[in-house]
Parts: sequence; C-alpha cells; structure tokens
Amino acid sequence: MTAMSVVPAQVLDAVDAALSGLGGARRRAFHRRLRRWYPDLAASLARLYPDRADEVAQRAVEVAAVAYAVRPKDLRELDETRILTPDWLQRPSMVGYACYADRFAGTLRGVGERTGYLRELGVTYLHLMPLLLPREGDNDGGYAVADYRTVRPDLGTTEDLAALATQLRGEGISLVLDLVLNHVAREHEWAARARAGEQRYRDYFHIYPDRELPDAYETTLPEVFRDFAPGNFTWDDEVDGWVWTTFNEWQWDVSWANPEVLLEYADIICFLGNLGVEVVRLDAIAFTWKRLGTTCQNQPEVHDITQALRLVARLAAPAMAFKAEAIVGPRDLLPYLGTGRHTGLSSDLAYHNTVMVQAWNILATGDVRLAKHALAALPPTPPAGTWITYLRCHDDIGWAIDDGDAQAVGVNGWMHRRYLADWYAGEFPGSWARGLTFQFNAATGDKRTSGTAASLVGFDAAAELAATTPSDTTGYAAARDQALARLFLANAFVFGWGGLPVIWSGDELGMSNDPHWMDEPGHEDDNRWAHRPRLDWDRAAARADLRTDTGKVFASMVHLAQVRASRPELHAVSDTRVLTDTDDGVLAIARAHPSGPFVGLYNVAADARPVSVELLRRQGITAPFDALSGHAVTWDADGLVWLPPYAARWVVDQPTS
Ligand code: GLC
Repeated sequence: MTAMSVVPAQVLDAVDAALSGLGGARRRAFHRRLRRWYPDLAASLARLYPDRADEVAQRAVEVAAVAYAVRPKDLRELDETRILTPDWLQRPSMVGYACYADRFAGTLRGVGERTGYLRELGVTYLHLMPLLLPREGDNDGGYAVADYRTVRPDLGTTEDLAALATQLRGEGISLVLDLVLNHVAREHEWAARARAGEQRYRDYFHIYPDRELPDAYETTLPEVFRDFAPGNFTWDDEVDGWVWTTFNEWQWDVSWANPEVLLEYADIICFLGNLGVEVVRLDAIAFTWKRLGTTCQNQPEVHDITQALRLVARLAAPAMAFKAEAIVGPRDLLPYLGTGRHTGLSSDLAYHNTVMVQAWNILATGDVRLAKHALAALPPTPPAGTWITYLRCHDDIGWAIDDGDAQAVGVNGWMHRRYLADWYAGEFPGSWARGLTFQFNAATGDKRTSGTAASLVGFDAAAELAATTPSDTTGYAAARDQALARLFLANAFVFGWGGLPVIWSGDELGMSNDPHWMDEPGHEDDNRWAHRPRLDWDRAAARADLRTDTGKVFASMVHLAQVRASRPELHAVSDTRVLTDTDDGVLAIARAHPSGPFVGLYNVAADARPVSVELLRRQGITAPFDALSGHAVTWDADGLVWLPPYAARWVVDQPTS
C-alpha cells in the first residue's frame, strides 16, 4: 500500500470538491493531515458504525474539509503554532479559571473588560460556562442547549464571542467552551422535529413506545438527579413515547448509535473551532453510549466517539484540544486520556476527580492513608494527556471513594462517604465546614456536597464564632488562620500535582456560599447555585490589601501560579507518584522530570509532623529547597524535617551557583 492509498479515492474526490476554491499549498496541507489521520478516523467509525463505515468516514472528512476551507487566517496561524507546541496544555505556565460569563462580568464584552483581573491571577485558560442558547426557564446552568450556533442574547452575539476569543488569544488566554453532547434541550430543533413526527429526528433520540426497555435499562442505571429528576426516562405525549432523559426531563439524550448524530456534532465542533474556541469540554461524555445491563457509562464506544470527533478537529482545526468531562471512578478515568488503541487519539485533558475528592478527604480526616492508597493505585497517566486538577468546580462534590481502596486501609467505604458528606455539610460533630447536602438518596444513603471552597475549609464557621462569641477574638483568629492554612494547603496540592489547575470563580477571593442561591426562578431545588455566586467586584477591589482574608487568599493563588510557572518539574509530561513511606499526616508526591526532581509535601494534620530527609534524598534531592517559601529545607540531628500544621512544601534541589 502506498502512502497515498490510505485514503480511498472517493474520499479524495469529495475533499477536492470541498477545497476547490483554495490554492495548491492549502490543499496540500489538508491532504497531509488527511494521510496522517484518515486511517485512525476510519477505524473508529468502522467500530461504531460497521454497516455504514465508508460513507460515514467520507462525510466526516467532508465536514472537516468544508470547515478547513473557511477557517480564518489568524486561526490557521494558531494551528501552525500549536502543531509546533503539542505540549501547550502541559506547561507549568498554564492556569485555568472557570466562570459563568454573566456571573463574572455581565456579558461577553464585560468579560473582555475584565481580562486584566484574569491576567493578574496568571490565567491562561478561561472556561466560560455554557453560553450557547439554552431553553427558556430552568436549563441546568445552560446544559440544556436549544441552539448550538447562537449565543445567549443577554450575553452577546456570535460575533462578540469570536471577538472575545481573539482578544483573549492576544492576551495569552485560551477560550474553553462546553460542548454538551449527551443531550439537547427538549426545545432544540431536533427534538421539536422528532415531536412533529419526522422519523429522521426521532432516530436522533432514544424513544420507546412502552416501559419494557426503559424498565430493563433502569435495573442497572444510576439516577443522577434523584431529587428533582428521578428515573432516566420521561413520558412525552407529543412524541408519544418514553424519552431517555438521564439528567432533567427536558434534557433529551441523543442517540450516538446513529451516525447522523456524530456528523452533526462534528460540524458543531468545527463551527466552534472556527469561532476561536481552543478547547471543547465534552460534557457528560461518559454517558453517550447505552448498553443494556450496564450503568450506560464508560462504554468502550465512548472512546471511539471521542477519537472520531478528535480527528475531525485535527483535520479542520488542529489548534483545538478536547477535555473530557467524565466524573467517574479512578479506574474508568484513564481511558479518557487515550489508552490502548486510542493512545494519542483521545482527549487531551480530563478532570482528575480523585485528586479533588482526596484533597477534601485529607483535610477532613487529617489522615492521608486512604489518599495514599487511592492515588498510588492509579496507573501512569498517558503521556499525551494532562489532568485538570481542581478543588472546586460548578458541580457538587460526589464522594467517589472506591470501596476497594477504603477496605485496603481498613475503612468502610459507605461509612466513609457518608462521613465526608456529613462533615462537609457541617453536620458532623466538630466540623468546621459549612456546605450543603446535594441529592440525598434515601435508598443508597448516598449524599453529595455543594459549597464554595471558602465555606468548605472553615471561613464561615470562623465567622459564626465571631458572631456568637465576639469576646473570643483569639478563638476567631485561630479558626480563621486555620481556614486560610487549609485553603492554601489544598490549593498547593492541586497546583503542585502536575496537571492544569483550574480555579472556580470566586474561590480566588475566598467567597462564601451565596445565601440567596434559591431566589432565582429555576434554581430553588438545585443548591449547586450556592457555590456559583456572582463575582463580588467590591470584594475584588480589596484583593491587594493583605490585611484582609480576600487579599490573603488572592495573593496566595497568584503566588502558587507564579511559582508553578517557574518550575519546569511541574510540566505535565512526567508522571506524579505518591510516596507511601510517610507519616499518616503527610502526603508526599514525587515527580521525576529531566530538569530535576520535585517532591510535594503536605502536612494535613493540625500538629507538626516529620518527614525523613532520606525520603527527599532517595528522590535525588541533595540540597532540599522549598520553592514555595524560597527557603532551604532544614532538618534536625535525627534527619527529620518537621512540617508545621497544614504546611505545604514544594521541594526541589537548591540551585548551586
Ligand atoms: C455535567 C455538568 C453538569 C450538568 C450535567 C448535565 O456533569 O458539569 O453541571 O448538570 O453535565 O449536562
């Protein structure tokens, strides 16, 4: 087989037709990409749609070619830059920020006016929460999309979005947008046409005439929003059937078993890419393939779907990257970054849910045994991928503690999950956290947690102390200092893991839960809105005042971002290992990067704990130096480094000059 013949003749003809208006150099550039990616694209489609593989592959390539032909010049230059810097998301200079455009700055233009604030924080990656036209009324924070090609009118226009993307790019910030691809709003045109009886569009959904199949599926399906949307199917009179609705009843799951759906989304991805979106967040990707007798999550086909879409993007807009939103157990997580046959062909980013859950776990317990076991058990990260590390995001915290991991350290998984949920809801004796219980499932006892980082680490409890016993100023000061220390510790762990840290809006100012979260229509049942406050710009104005909590929290985030950016050891290409031979209060992680070793030390206990200097030496560190404080690390005559309560250290080898 010659190099040329990897692409069938009819595909080449279709490409020639789509690119006929372009000059020779641009046509040849597309053909080079096609020769590189076609076999992998065709293979994924053949596994998904064996009966229609050739036709679907040809149409997918056409989608890419048409988008390539109209890709704006500045974005084509970006494509070249990214091809030259395939590790751009892995670099330690990357810091993410996620917010709702309206809650952050009113409109898209408003966001454009606030980029100085983001740059001050060191942000290079901005995830704007769903902003494509949602259904009216409750829309799950925009995750019920009625039109993927129109921007929410109160935020601006598609042109405003493209202008913002260009502005951000000029300021070194990549725009990240959601692609909600497991479902559309009931009001989306596809769903409307399905209801109008068009068979083509009925086939875009999972619609059943009676309860037979829904009941069969339900026996193994979990319920995501049990409180306000129980069950996974909704009867719809107009469509005259049971519609698969994993999330809310007005979020209709699309059928990825239908290749037309894949082609629609491929086109939407190219559309977003040509607006200047640099990363698409594949919302709820784990749910996209259904299989009877399973949880209908993490099915192997999900990774072929990702591969096919990823390769369409590589043909049309190689600057684009993909982020998988798969909030799944540790063992199911890794394939989202491309393993086995999908190596290098899947998402570039995925959320490290385990790091997030364990960060909260170690703060609550002051004990790292479970975290050590759970984090050490993770297989190595695929080198082409990178984790999103985060302490909070717009969603609740699901207590994903694996039963096996818990058992291995002598803990009952169910009890521990329950304990964490109660602790963070402020319902466990002695708790300093003030979160809210989200989606209590009486049948399984499962509880999840809402709350901002500040409310969860103890700022609200400290404020309560100040209000109830104003004379106890020492008690208040101590509680507040502990909250600050916990927050810094947790953020240092998240920033020092070696992924791409993303700050959830408001947490950089230490904002508490929004007490009025339920006042907006449609929000009353969903307390995730408690931790989605509107950014308080008056508070932000105090960020330079280091006497305030706001100033301290903000400065600590800036500091973490700056130190991180200066440490080549935190480049995500090298893997993170957990060192298990430590005190029960000390989490130690090691990174072996060609530029030198790095050991992150985190004392999660409220008293001083030791680490042996030998542990650092074994990692190749001869002159231990804490990059966070800028001081040499010292040890006593026994060779023990004593870490103060809640201390975080990023230990590297002292430069010997
Ligand atoms: C994702 C989003 C979440 C949303 C769900 C349904 O998990 O993060 O906010 O409710 O998908 O779209």
